[in-house]
Amino acid sequence: MNTPVDITTESITLQIDDKDVSCRKGETVLQVARENGIDIPTLCYMEGLTVWGGCRLCMVEIAGSPKLQAACATVCMEGMNICTKSPRLENYRRMIVELLFAERNHVCSVCVSNGHCELQSMAVKLGIDHVRFAYRFPHLEVDNSHDRMRMDHNRCILCSRCVRVCAEVEGAHTKDIKGRGVLAAIIHDLDQNWGESSTCTSCGKCVNICPTGALTHRGTAVGEMTKKTTFLPYLTLMREAQL
Ligand code: FES
Repeated sequence: MNTPVDITTESITLQIDDKDVSCRKGETVLQVARENGIDIPTLCYMEGLTVWGGCRLCMVEIAGSPKLQAACATVCMEGMNICTKSPRLENYRRMIVELLFAERNHVCSVCVSNGHCELQSMAVKLGIDHVRFAYRFPHLEVDNSHDRMRMDHNRCILCSRCVRVCAEVEGAHTKDIKGRGVLAAIIHDLDQNWGESSTCTSCGKCVNICPTGALTHRGTAVGEMTKKTTFLPYLTLMREAQL
């Protein structure tokens, strides 16, 4: 995981979407864009948690750089010229979301988070009405062993928000990621059933921060799972209080 970059009081100026903006040295492109009302789509980023840079939805074009850069993980530099919207970026963002849908079993019509899912909302926002890639339809487990919460690996997009909130805010570090590529999966403690975890405090932060129906409360039916997000703006404060 990346560590946050120190933000100084020194001010720099740059351009985002042809708009002159100024910011403090050390701020990321995503932070400055949001401060100036410029929308950049994200899935793995969560203010107050360390930057993961995994979903790549926040990719932007920076003049002079042949590669796209993740806005959440790119620190602003004096004189940068950044483009956040272009046909090339739209194309890549659509492709990323389509690949997420193709990788696991995101069947919205039978999902408890139907209508309250960030992946679903992102697909709508990007105008995705079909997936161009072959679905993998993997056989993945649903961990129902916890008495109040449920982990459905079929719905997980591996954004790692649950891993980070558990370690960085709750301080339990129950969750982690095992494996690589399509074999990667969220685990509890030493890859045991969630209900058998000796470190989980059952705080529920992971459930509420999960963007999809991967982490939910037990006993919810299709479309019933809404996440409590009121604590999200206080993540930074909670984390600082803990340090
Ligand atoms: Fe930047 Fe996911 S939000 S990579």
